[in-house]
Amino acid sequence: MSRSLSLKMQASGTPVLKVCSLSKTYGKNRALSGIDLEVMPGDTVVVTGPSGCGKSTLLRCIVRLINPDSGRIIVAGEDVTNLSYSDLLNVRRRIGFVFQRSNLIQRLTALENVALPLLAANATRDEAERKAHRALKRVGLIGDVVHRRPCELSGGECQRVAIARALAPEPNLMLVNVNKNLGHLPA
Ligand SMILES: Nc1ncnc2c1ncn2[C@@H]1O[C@H](COP(=O)(O)OP(=O)(O)OP(=O)(O)O)[C@@H](O)[C@H]1O
Ligand SMILES: [Mg+2]
Repeated sequence: MSRSLSLKMQASGTPVLKVCSLSKTYGKNRALSGIDLEVMPGDTVVVTGPSGCGKSTLLRCIVRLINPDSGRIIVAGEDVTNLSYSDLLNVRRRIGFVFQRSNLIQRLTALENVALPLLAANATRDEAERKAHRALKRVGLIGDVVHRRPCELSGGECQRVAIARALAPEPNLMLVNVNKNLGHLPA
């Protein structure tokens, strides 16, 4: 991905995400080269490009699943580029991350998959189920479908469940790594 793909949003205030001159190579393969990106609260930014151009690498760097070679990542004004793992966990709680492969737990239903992180964050079962239903509804999943396991859902439905799982804790920033054929998604 080259600098020419950099995006600059036109709004004022503190960006919810700022990426400055981010670069990443895997061995000799340069995946990111000097990427700049600024996202203001309420903005939706879509990063597109051919397969292998570095989209997933960019998102993985932002949540520090991998470390960039150089550049800076600033989340809501906080520089997270070199944060320790324990400090990073606090930042990740404010970010909803949807993996390109949905990464759902196969033995749990859609509803249980979405409720799980809420239960892990000490929500009561009732509260977790209510929030999970609400998030699933936002991505268009209502009725019996929410009681099915991932193997009984289509690929697109699995991605919607993954989006609902990331949305349910009401994060400040959503990073969604999906294929293009998802149709309507909530703003
Ligand atoms: N762990 C890795 N080790 C070595 N090379 C990698 C690794 N992960 C990704 N790459 C390479 O880095 C480049 C960018 O990969 P990335 O997954 O970011 O692309 P992408 O834009 O998300 O592609 P797609 O649209 O197919 O998901 C590709 O050439 C890929 O082969
Ligand atoms: Mg990808």
